[in-house]
Amino acid sequence: MEHLVTFSVHDGIGVIDINNPPVNALSSGVPEGIKAAVETLESLPDVHALVIIGTGRTFVAGADINEFVAATSGKGSMPVLHPTLFAIEDCTKPVVMAIHGTALGGGLELAMAGHYRVATPDAQVGQPEVKIGLIPGAGGTQRLPRLAGVSKAAEMCAFGESISASEALELGILDRILEIDLRSGAIAFAQEVADKPVRKTRDRNEKLAPSDALNTLREQCKKTRRNLIAPLAAIDAVEIASTTPFDEGLKREAEIFERCVHSDQSKGLIHAFFGERAVAKVPDIPKDTPVYTIHHAAVIGAGTMGGGIAMALANAGIPVRIKDTEQAALDKGMAVIAANYSRSVKSGRLTWQAMEQRMEMITPQLGVDGFDRADIIIEAVFESMALKKQVFTEIDQIAKHDCILASNTSTLSIDEIGSATSRPHMVVGMHFFSPANVMRLVEIVRSDSTCRPVVATAMALAKTLKKVGVVVRNGFGFVGNRVMFPYMNEAMFLVEEGATTEQVDRALTDFGMAMGPFAVCDLSGIDVFWRIQQEFPAPAGTRRPIGIDKLYAAGRYGQKTGAGWYRYDESRKPLPDPEVVAMIRQKQRTISDEEIVERCIYSLINEGARVLEEGVALRAVDIDIIYLTGYGFPAYRGGPMFYGDTVGLEKVAKRIRDFGGTLAPLLERLAKEGKMFHE
Ligand code: NAI
Repeated sequence: MEHLVTFSVHDGIGVIDINNPPVNALSSGVPEGIKAAVETLESLPDVHALVIIGTGRTFVAGADINEFVAATSGKGSMPVLHPTLFAIEDCTKPVVMAIHGTALGGGLELAMAGHYRVATPDAQVGQPEVKIGLIPGAGGTQRLPRLAGVSKAAEMCAFGESISASEALELGILDRILEIDLRSGAIAFAQEVADKPVRKTRDRNEKLAPSDALNTLREQCKKTRRNLIAPLAAIDAVEIASTTPFDEGLKREAEIFERCVHSDQSKGLIHAFFGERAVAKVPDIPKDTPVYTIHHAAVIGAGTMGGGIAMALANAGIPVRIKDTEQAALDKGMAVIAANYSRSVKSGRLTWQAMEQRMEMITPQLGVDGFDRADIIIEAVFESMALKKQVFTEIDQIAKHDCILASNTSTLSIDEIGSATSRPHMVVGMHFFSPANVMRLVEIVRSDSTCRPVVATAMALAKTLKKVGVVVRNGFGFVGNRVMFPYMNEAMFLVEEGATTEQVDRALTDFGMAMGPFAVCDLSGIDVFWRIQQEFPAPAGTRRPIGIDKLYAAGRYGQKTGAGWYRYDESRKPLPDPEVVAMIRQKQRTISDEEIVERCIYSLINEGARVLEEGVALRAVDIDIIYLTGYGFPAYRGGPMFYGDTVGLEKVAKRIRDFGGTLAPLLERLAKEGKMFHE
């Protein structure tokens, strides 16, 4: 325990070093070590003030989330920081917190228990607990308003965004920014304040006036943090500080924290947090797998996806050549890219100079000049196997021998595409999602031949592009789309049976989906779905929705034709269209929102079980992360498989049976054995 926290004395100042790499998380042993060090230094007559500082790259980046997980699953006790924080705040000698890197969550709570805070100019502070469904639980909601004021504290706790050192100084969270070496600067600062009486944060009540801004903040949360309980809980907890004495406030904070930490939302968000890290580890691709360096890239097809992929590459500083067959298509593609960047400039997210630099990275062309220098070529032409094979045969002849050939296909076999080349081991699927410059997911599809360094390179490239790469096996629709089709079908069956498109979409957005299935279908294009149906007809004897054929025949392709499942006005606002219902309605019964959610979401889970059993997805968590990062599944439900576990697989299986569905064998078995996907 000693090595986690050490202390020494310099010129009358006791210096406590926190040393728990990589981010000095407040894991068990750290708070106890700090408390013991404070008590020892306080008792030394030669010590006049204390400095607490983090070694390595940061002050303290937060609590150890694993300890919350252990506590809520009965495998450990909940970490409690209060005794350490009181020992600091009650110390009779001034305690100066010296912050570099980040002071986040428990890190900021620790810092606020000190009597003074100094920081480097690039330091950041914040209370990000809300991002994992929690509120600050170690006095953060009570001490922060005392330093920063009620409304700013509520905003920081409800949105979880960190702020810069200069803003923190202005707000009163920091006392000084040190341009010199932090350690010596903090010691000098401590010497300055050594003789002053200590000022406890908990006694500083001058900024606690109740604020009307909290109600505005609540409204904002309801809109932008739909269905989430933690942001509102955080505002409530901060508000309590303005009406209640500190000790009582701490008790109330603890009650609210307790509610949050045991909530399904927090468990789902924590699963999502760890899940993103888990998918980056693929058992047969160890960390030391060699990777190809990507200096130059090329993209084939300047359409919706090709343009977005080129932007993603340029954004990461990788020069990219983009080729199309027609000048008009190329011009259109480049115009869309320029328009996208201009929008970012107008909204202040990008400077004109940065836009110019990025545009210069993208070279549009009709020929294959420079393709022989590319380290990766990503194909994004129309979704046709014959065309893809032709393109791959051509690029195989031009590309250097160690160039990776990737396809952005959303459904087609990577094995078959690879067979059109002399290097199937260099062929991989990199399935980006639309808009590819924005969406975080990339499904990395390995065929039977794809070699490990190519998979590892695709994973590394996804990371460079600031995306989440999830490795999956080849198979129709891979994981994401394969699992989505039964979900979409169920939505269409519901309309055939008596629901309306808008009811289905609303029930599912109320459940938390970013968009309803019909809105998604209209955005992607009914023609796209129709083509997939032609290429992969439903097996004989299975129920097939009639909507896609009917809408396709009526020329209702979705937003692009101004009508699909909805009609669209000039501003692309979807308007319910009774004509659609009349076209496909088969029965007339009242359908509840609950039935809509159960049928659609459980069919996702059921197909997920099939994908898992077939080994197309490696683990349940891979399906979860695919749905969270690519399909707008609500993060606070942890992904479809985690949600299934939360509901209970027995119930999921029963309801699928009640609705006349066929259970995936894996789901049936787990339900019978009382097990879960995530075990
Ligand atoms: P798109 O129709 O917008 O663009 C395709 C582009 O490829 C067109 O500009 C076309 O002129 C060009 N092209 C056709 N043949 C070519 C050739 N031989 N050489 C060079 N360029 C050629 O299509 P989109 O939507 O970008 O789709 C492209 C691929 O991405 C498809 O495989 C699709 O399944 C996949 N995909 C599409 C998504 C979407 O939401 N649109 C999402 C994920 C994948």
